[in-house]
Amino acid sequence: MKRLLEEKVILITGGSSGIGRAAAILAAREGAKVLVSADKNIEGGQETVSAIKKEGGEGAFVQADVSHFVDVQRMVNRTVELYGRLDCAFNNAGIYGERKPIIDYPDNAFDRVIAVNLKGVWLCMKAEIPLMIEKDRGVIVNTASVGGLTSWENASGYITSKHAVVGLTRSAALEYSRRGIRINALCPGVTRTSMFSGRGDPDKETQAASWHAMNRIGKPEEVAESVVWLCSDKASFVTGHCFTVDGGYTTGGR
Ligand SMILES: NC(=O)c1ccc[n+]([C@@H]2O[C@H](COP(=O)([O-])OP(=O)(O)OC[C@H]3O[C@@H](n4cnc5c(N)ncnc54)[C@H](O)[C@@H]3O)[C@@H](O)[C@H]2O)c1
Repeated sequence: MKRLLEEKVILITGGSSGIGRAAAILAAREGAKVLVSADKNIEGGQETVSAIKKEGGEGAFVQADVSHFVDVQRMVNRTVELYGRLDCAFNNAGIYGERKPIIDYPDNAFDRVIAVNLKGVWLCMKAEIPLMIEKDRGVIVNTASVGGLTSWENASGYITSKHAVVGLTRSAALEYSRRGIRINALCPGVTRTSMFSGRGDPDKETQAASWHAMNRIGKPEEVAESVVWLCSDKASFVTGHCFTVDGGYTTGGR
């Protein structure tokens, strides 16, 4: 049976852990050649590539900070150097930022979360879209969050950045869908990754589970399934969409 991403070339940012790693491994399993990038966690990026290769897939790692266009351009160029083209991009790198109310939130921390989560996605698309236009086809998935559709306290940087990723994705889809490029946002609910479990509170998972209709948090592998589907031709009429993978978080039961 033909695999979902057979012979596709996919670039995944934030691929050294969590959702990015799970998506990289699954994409490779589905036949893609995968360029994984991350900023500081080089070891994690290399581990993702080893996991891909162990299963007989093709992958490579490039260090890149998505908030710097020079890095982003280098990462995209490297993808083309290695694999000849760019079919799909999963712009997923992100940080949570501070957990503080607005009046205590340092402005440099706000700037940083916007630079990585929002401007990083914009810079990635700026470098990726010209290559896709050349081929009249391509797929981009930008990681937003349920925090791009709803809100919670003490996370103004994160919530702002993720709402903006939803808007940016819609705007980009409007500009480029006629050129054969599908662009969607992914909105996961709470997912068991270092971003979530890093909070260090053992009761946090039970509490977070209760915010979801399914009364549990998600696994990165479950989110990855949606990324692969959105990148595949199975989603050929899906663009400008905010795809929730959230166990019912946005049903409003919180
Ligand atoms: N875990 C959740 O509950 C959850 C829920 C909704 C959305 N998300 C989003 O999913 C995405 C992935 O997060 P995760 O949960 O897998 O967490 P994670 O911390 O495991 O992964 C984040 C990745 O982003 C990379 N990164 C951070 N800053 C970067 C930068 N400046 N340049 C390049 N790479 C950078 C890290 O190295 C890491 O690989 C993020 O955008 C996050 O906001 C996570």
